[in-house]
Amino acid sequence: MSMQREPIGVIGTGYVGLVTAAGFAELGSDVYCIDIDADKIARLERGEIPIYEPGLEEMVSRNRERLHFSTDIGTALDKARLLFVAVGTPPTYSGDADLSAVNAVVAAMPASDRHALVMKSTVPVGTGRNIKRVFVEQGKDGFRYVSCPEFLKEGTAVGDFLHPDRVVVGDDGDWAGDAVVDLYRPLLSAEHGGEEAGELVRTDIASAEMVKLASNAFLATKISFINEIANVCEETGADVIEVAKGMGLDDRIGPKFLQAGVGFGGSCFPKDVNALKQLAGNSGYHFQLLNAVIEVNELQKRRVMGKLEKHLGSLIGKRIALLGLAFKPNTDDMREATSLVLSARLQAAGAHISVYDPIAEEEARKLIQGVRFADSALDAVTGADAVVLVTEWQEFRDLDWAQVAEAMAGTTLVDGRNALDPGLVRDAGLTYEGIGRGT
Ligand code: UGA
Repeated sequence: MSMQREPIGVIGTGYVGLVTAAGFAELGSDVYCIDIDADKIARLERGEIPIYEPGLEEMVSRNRERLHFSTDIGTALDKARLLFVAVGTPPTYSGDADLSAVNAVVAAMPASDRHALVMKSTVPVGTGRNIKRVFVEQGKDGFRYVSCPEFLKEGTAVGDFLHPDRVVVGDDGDWAGDAVVDLYRPLLSAEHGGEEAGELVRTDIASAEMVKLASNAFLATKISFINEIANVCEETGADVIEVAKGMGLDDRIGPKFLQAGVGFGGSCFPKDVNALKQLAGNSGYHFQLLNAVIEVNELQKRRVMGKLEKHLGSLIGKRIALLGLAFKPNTDDMREATSLVLSARLQAAGAHISVYDPIAEEEARKLIQGVRFADSALDAVTGADAVVLVTEWQEFRDLDWAQVAEAMAGTTLVDGRNALDPGLVRDAGLTYEGIGRGT
C-alpha cells in the first residue's frame, strides 16, 4: 500500500472522523484532520485518543506521520481536494437533526473549482441538494458535493472501515465521485479483502442519503420486532432465543440483530429513527411503523422494572446492582444508554443502586447521580437483592456465579441481554430471569 494516494481533509475528529482519518492514512493518504476544539487537537497531536475504540489508538500511531491535526480549515483546503465532513448532527428538541455544525462547514468553504465536500455525517435526505443550492447562491457553484454515508459500528469501527459490506457514493457523476471511489478502491478489490471485499453502490445524492437512514431504521425495526416477540414469548412459554435461531436460518431474515434485550441505545439508532420519522412528517408523510419502533423501545427499557417487582415486591429500600452502563459492550459511549433510564426509574421507585462498567464509568458519572459506582462487578453485587445485566461485556459473561451468589443478599438475576447461560446461573442458586425466555 505504498503507492502515492490522494491526500484528504477530514473535518470533525469525533468517532466517525477519527476512524475515517486513520483508516485512509492506513491506506496511504496524507490526512489533514480539522476540529474547532483546540484542546482535542492538542491531545490528538500528543497521540491521545479521546474515545475508547478497540484498535484505533494503534492505527493512529502506526500512521502518525500521515496524520496532521489542526484547527485551521485552510490547511485542509490547501493540501486536499476532498474534504470529508464528519461533524456531529445531534437531535434537536423536535427530533430533527441539528445541522448547525454542517452549515458552519459549508459557510467556511471558499469559491473553488477544485474542491468537494464529501458528507460522512448522517444528514436528512435533501441536505445535499440544499447545500448545492447554497453553493450556487453564493457563487461557489464549482464546489462539488458527494454523499458517502458511514456504516461503522462502535466497538468494531476499525475492522468495519477496513472490511466494509458496501461503500455508498452518491454524486453528480463528476470527478469528485470518481475520486472518492478511487480512495475506497483498495477496500473494494478482491486483493485486499478477499471474499470479504465490499460492494460499491454508486448512485445519486438523495438515494445515498436515504440508504443510511433506511438502513439504521430497518435494523432498529428488527430489534423492536424481536423484542415484541420476546414479550409474547413470556406470555406463551416460548423461548425467544430458540425462536430467533429458527427465524434467522431463513436467509431472507438472517440471524443478526435478532437479540432480544432491554432495547437499543447509542448515538445513532434512536436519533436516526426519529430523524427519518420527522423527515417523512415534514414532507407530509406519516411513517407509522417508525412510531411503533420508537415506542416499543421506550417500553422495553422499562420492562425490567416489572421483572424486579415480580421477584422483590416493592422496590423501596431494595438494593439493585446494574452490571454494564454503556449502550453496548466495547465502548464508553453512554448516549441513549438503557442504563440511564433504568437507573432513574429504579431511583424513582425508591431502590438503592450500585453500578459497574469496565470502561464507561467516567462518561456515566457525568450523567448518573445518586448511585454507588463500584470498583468491580463483584463489588457492585455485594449485598444486592437483585442484579441486572444491562450491557453484555465479556467479563460479565465470565463471572463466577457461585461467587456472585455468595456476595449477594438476595437471589434475583435479570439478564437484560440474554447473554448468560441460565443453567450455570441457576446451578449457583440464583433465580434467572431473561428477556422472553419462557415462563
Ligand atoms: C449503528 C449501526 O449498526 C451502524 O451500521 C451505523 O453506522 C451506526 O449505527 C451509525 O449510524 O453511526 P452502533 O450505534 O455503533 O451502530 O451500534 P449497534 O451495534 O448497531 O447497536 C445499537 C444498539 O442496538 C445497541 O444498544 C445494541 O445493544 C442494540 N442491539 C443490537 C440489540 O438490542 N439487539 C440486537 O440484536 C442488536
